[in-house]
Amino acid sequence: MKTEKILIIGAGGQIGVELTLALRKVYGEANVIATDIREAHPLLAGAGPYAILDAMDGKAIHELVKKEGITQIYLLAALLSATGEKAPMKAWDINMQSLLQVLELGVQEKLTKIYWPSSIAVFGPTTPREETPQQTVVEPRTVYGISKYAGELWCQYYNQRWGLDVRSLRYPGLISWKSEPGGGTTDYAVEIYHEALKHGKYTSFLSEDTYLPMMYMDDAIRGTIELMEAPQEQIKSRMAYNLSAMSFSPKEIAAAIQKHIPDFTIDYAPDFRQQIANGWPKSIDDTAARNHWGWAHKYDLEKMTADMLLHLKEQLHVTQ
Ligand SMILES: NC(=O)c1ccc[n+]([C@@H]2O[C@H](COP(=O)([O-])OP(=O)(O)OC[C@H]3O[C@@H](n4cnc5c(N)ncnc54)[C@H](O)[C@@H]3O)[C@@H](O)[C@H]2O)c1
Repeated sequence: MKTEKILIIGAGGQIGVELTLALRKVYGEANVIATDIREAHPLLAGAGPYAILDAMDGKAIHELVKKEGITQIYLLAALLSATGEKAPMKAWDINMQSLLQVLELGVQEKLTKIYWPSSIAVFGPTTPREETPQQTVVEPRTVYGISKYAGELWCQYYNQRWGLDVRSLRYPGLISWKSEPGGGTTDYAVEIYHEALKHGKYTSFLSEDTYLPMMYMDDAIRGTIELMEAPQEQIKSRMAYNLSAMSFSPKEIAAAIQKHIPDFTIDYAPDFRQQIANGWPKSIDDTAARNHWGWAHKYDLEKMTADMLLHLKEQLHVTQ
């Protein structure tokens, strides 16, 4: 068993719940302290150390780090792309202030590692949209994307200036059944499975031919832990790594679902999220992650769809 003591901030969200459970398997339940501004998610309640903590409260975070002898922080608290566009200044405050506090704390308390996720939202409409490279034109048009790109630059700065071991991934849209998505532009690709099972139909807020990079949560969690466990010399980029698994459109995910639920129907009513999606890559080149620290995805659209429907049927008590 490893001797790290880990603090997760924003553990109650779509990624945090599954990452907490996975990290506890690696490091031991007592060594992974889950925190969020909300009450514990049902999958975390009573299942290991949990505390209410505001990512904006640097003093409280510092006290907890000292009291618990924390050696690593995973900072997941953020306002996501769609939510961020509704409250741009709030998104900027939360996304940037929480990160800067944790980076400062990392230097002061000599933390061994920090994880902070970035996103494909760093890219914008002037970026090449097919097989978007690791290094390319970066002109995000959402406050979320701006905060993620600025955050990446700060992570790189703290690494180069103070040797802080901070690591990051540009996640694509993440699809999961254990925990709900938290207000992103790719949330449709989770909702569609729920609606297919509950009502046999779904209205997509993105148009039928909107291709976006996506990944199954199992791959994202494994990739995150592999990145964090990779030897320092393999982490050659201190900006976030591009990370890729699959790319599909609403029409294609609907067709994948129809192989299991033939009567499933989809229609389309694009809303403000369409414009956000139009500025993002369609697919991602993650050669650097594959070459530097051995990233490899396991799930494609077909395999993910079979797994999602299997687990959600049980969770939603659907019998057919
Ligand atoms: N889910 C995705 O598809 C995706 C894709 C790219 C990047 N990311 C990034 O991964 C990280 C986690 O995303 P997620 O999908 O789990 O988001 P989420 O919205 O599901 O979860 C975020 C969690 O942070 C908590 N939180 C918000 N404000 C807080 C505060 N002030 N103090 C403490 N906790 C607070 C929320 O209660 C929530 O539980 C974010 O940085 C996000 O930008 C997610």
